[in-house]
Amino acid sequence: MIGLHSPSTKYIGFNELKYSINNGWLSSIGPGTKTFEKYIKKYTKSKYVVATINGTAALQLSIACLYPKKSEEILIPDLSFISTVNAVHYNFCKPVFLGINPDFMISENALKNFINEKTFFKNGYTYNKITKKKILALIVVNVFGNLPNIFKIKKILKGKNIKIIEDAAESLGSFYLKNKKRTHSGTVGDIGCLSFNVNKIITTGGGGMILTKNLKTYKIIKHLANQSKLDPINFIHDQIGFNYSMPSINASIGIGQIKKINTILKLKKGIYKYYLSKFSKNKKIEFISVDQKNYSSNFWLNLVRFKNKSLNLNNIISKLKRRNIIARPIWFPLSLQTYNKNFQRFKTQDTKKIIKNVLCLPSGYDLTKKELQYIIEEINNIS
Ligand SMILES: Cc1ncc(COP(=O)(O)O)c(C=O)c1O
Repeated sequence: MIGLHSPSTKYIGFNELKYSINNGWLSSIGPGTKTFEKYIKKYTKSKYVVATINGTAALQLSIACLYPKKSEEILIPDLSFISTVNAVHYNFCKPVFLGINPDFMISENALKNFINEKTFFKNGYTYNKITKKKILALIVVNVFGNLPNIFKIKKILKGKNIKIIEDAAESLGSFYLKNKKRTHSGTVGDIGCLSFNVNKIITTGGGGMILTKNLKTYKIIKHLANQSKLDPINFIHDQIGFNYSMPSINASIGIGQIKKINTILKLKKGIYKYYLSKFSKNKKIEFISVDQKNYSSNFWLNLVRFKNKSLNLNNIISKLKRRNIIARPIWFPLSLQTYNKNFQRFKTQDTKKIIKNVLCLPSGYDLTKKELQYIIEEINNIS
């Protein structure tokens, strides 16, 4: 079976585990966690980092550190993995869903118009005109390793006192290119969240990382992630905390993995280029190409859009499965999930149209040329 993005067994072996096993530390107080944090800090050039048990916990803490009051609001794009909106609910906040661009990223126009038409500014904070609730933050999502126009977004939110959280779960290795400078995704806003789930660019089995340039934010998150413990002996905790720090055994896998990131990124680019060159000849398919002017992508996931509107994506997925190929549609819009139906939305009416007939293709970095050729042949047979 050719998976969507399985971790390569060629790239994970005993070498990774030796960082934990050799020193006997498995839990999050072990040296592996700190060492892995140092590697990520160096790679992303983030001022502060906190390793977490997964990307979802990272997102949850990135809101928790703002100490939201019940029902305060977080703006999020309509399209993301479910964790983005769940992190809002875990904090008893309310999501407000914003529309997306054809490139699947949050629409800067929807954001701009929402801020202009639907909010007001009072006593240093932005409030929702309808609910009268404070708007605490915007989460932008770096969908499939590609990046939104964060600099425009920052401009729109300038002076609004709305924090920018970057859901960079899928974008380790993607950099903004501006003024001849490479800036790692997740380090432009106030807080960035990475994921090291098994299907990501590098993995720790399960894991995440919070990136921030703000010392106060870092200290709060570090404290919350470690049970809000005040001292190492007397079990005094000053607020409700979380057991969200990454165990050393997972971090040790990450240390081995991050050392291979440049090789992995090269392989990922090669897969993208191969798909691009082969699919560009098929007029019935649009291979979703990636902007390479404003950012360098990690090319995490490759996608095709079937132009024939009468094709049924679920039938295609079943057919490919019978041929031993795992493919997936894009996520179902967040605002249409049953438990999100009663929350405010703005310009989300096109989300379904934008993702219609788009298929995520196997993109793991250990795909062989023969496997790629086989996938391309099968997709061409369908269209
Ligand atoms: C966009 C996005 N956000 C958040 C997450 C959550 O990360 P994790 O699975 O590590 O909890 C993922 C993926 O897994 C993701 O793709």
